[in-house]
Amino acid sequence: MAYHWWQRGVIYQIYPRSFKDSNGDGIGDLEGIIQKLDYLNNGTHDSLGIEAIWISPFYPSPMADFGYDVANYVDIDPMFGDLADFDRLITEAHQRGIKVIIDYVPNHTSEEHPWFLESRSSRDNPRRDWYIWRDAKPDGSPPNNWGSWFGGPSWTWDEHTGQYYLHSFTKEQPDLNWANPAVYQAMMDVLRFWLDRGVDGFRMDVVFLIDKHPQLLDNPPNPNPAPDLSPNDLAGRQLNIHNREQPGLFKYLRDFRKLTDEYTDRVIIGEIWVELDAWVKYFGENGDALHLPFNFRLLQLPEWNAELVRQSVDELEQALPSFGWGNYVLGSHDIGRLATRIGQDQARIAAMLLLTLRGTPTLYNGDEIGMENGVIPPDKIRDPQGIILGAHRTRDVCRTPVQWDSSAYAGFSTVEPWLPVSEDYRSRNIQVQGLDPKSMLSLYRKLLWYRHGSAALYGGSYLPVDGPAGTYLYLREHDSERKLIALNFTNETKAVTLTDHGRIVLSTYLDREEAINGEFHLRANEGVIIEL
Ligand code: GLC
Ligand code: CA
Repeated sequence: MAYHWWQRGVIYQIYPRSFKDSNGDGIGDLEGIIQKLDYLNNGTHDSLGIEAIWISPFYPSPMADFGYDVANYVDIDPMFGDLADFDRLITEAHQRGIKVIIDYVPNHTSEEHPWFLESRSSRDNPRRDWYIWRDAKPDGSPPNNWGSWFGGPSWTWDEHTGQYYLHSFTKEQPDLNWANPAVYQAMMDVLRFWLDRGVDGFRMDVVFLIDKHPQLLDNPPNPNPAPDLSPNDLAGRQLNIHNREQPGLFKYLRDFRKLTDEYTDRVIIGEIWVELDAWVKYFGENGDALHLPFNFRLLQLPEWNAELVRQSVDELEQALPSFGWGNYVLGSHDIGRLATRIGQDQARIAAMLLLTLRGTPTLYNGDEIGMENGVIPPDKIRDPQGIILGAHRTRDVCRTPVQWDSSAYAGFSTVEPWLPVSEDYRSRNIQVQGLDPKSMLSLYRKLLWYRHGSAALYGGSYLPVDGPAGTYLYLREHDSERKLIALNFTNETKAVTLTDHGRIVLSTYLDREEAINGEFHLRANEGVIIEL
């Protein structure tokens, strides 16, 4: 079987504001990404060896949600560069065998998008119906009880025209009305614009939200709200059933797919936060919808341990339709850093897990050096989620500048960056770790290149194998190539018995390669790849 690049390859997420600043304004930019492409893949084992990047939004934006509030879908914010820079980025990436996936934000625009400026200008403006406007209830309250994902109601009153508009996120991000054919057409044209420009795919932001219940019915209360909800977290107190995953959604997904299928080998990835039985539907009835609905289940485990991780993977494998393809996400710009959530020792296990499972891995920039949550003083909080829902919810912690070297500002910029550089940058950075043969970065490089050359890992079958408590073992197999992955999720040594002969070719400690026969030991927090 021949695999598509998005099945074989590893996707590396770049958060452009925080990746690399090329012009000394403290904010990352497209030129910065170009300068670091060789780090990502220069064809040699000194580079990471990734095959695709996904770049979070770089469109013109007032940055109320740091680019997820788009004021123009077909241009670049001057802060990040211009369209010529983008074209150069595509060319330079492709020269290195790196595909380019961009963020598509279909659910909402910025309040400063010309479409919304027109829409809010008067009730009879031709674009009024491009957004979701409703009268107040007789008592003046919002049209229904829906809550914004960032807290508070998802309705904001517009004094000038005397109606409420809907926003699933901040009030600066009004939701588009996809039921309006003109909106649908305009947003399809956006996809075409970028496809024609040569992008290899899209990561579709909260795509499961774009269709709303036609009557905008009230959501029922959530019988089990999380205990630590902020007082204004209305969405967390409801079952969000009428503002997401409406039936009309799947027609849109099929249309996205049809359009991208007109081009050669493009991919559409959806950001959807749903349960497994709902998740499988996103491939479409016969594989005619998303190529990759993001799988966030490993992020949602109540605890990081061998049993729960195995269960999560096994359930996914069993649920996967024949035309589907799995994927795993362990970090992003929306969630606390992996190394902080599970600790540095287990972060190495996570690296081996991510890069040896069956399914496309997504790696978040900085996780390859084990970056930890940044410490953000209260007066430096920038993320609207942190501002509205409280400091404990701020996503700034996982958006601090990527740590390139030991020089001032971690080599990210020549001036004070938009978010503080983490204090550990002198010891934890790409340059230092690149020279240390046992560093986290060296582990990622080894794993990435190993996966690259192993059909069993990028394409082979998956079979879990029972091992001692606290360990997770699985076999990956393709033709005569057989690999056993053995991961120790505990602080204790574990004895594992094998019926086959084999050879340890890679340990997460990067300190052993040896033949094994019968029993072998996994050290505390050790993972190994064994060639059988
Ligand atoms: C997605 C993005 C997140 C953003 C939100 C609204 O969840 O990943 O960063 O705030 O959508 O666009
Ligand atoms: Ca810059």
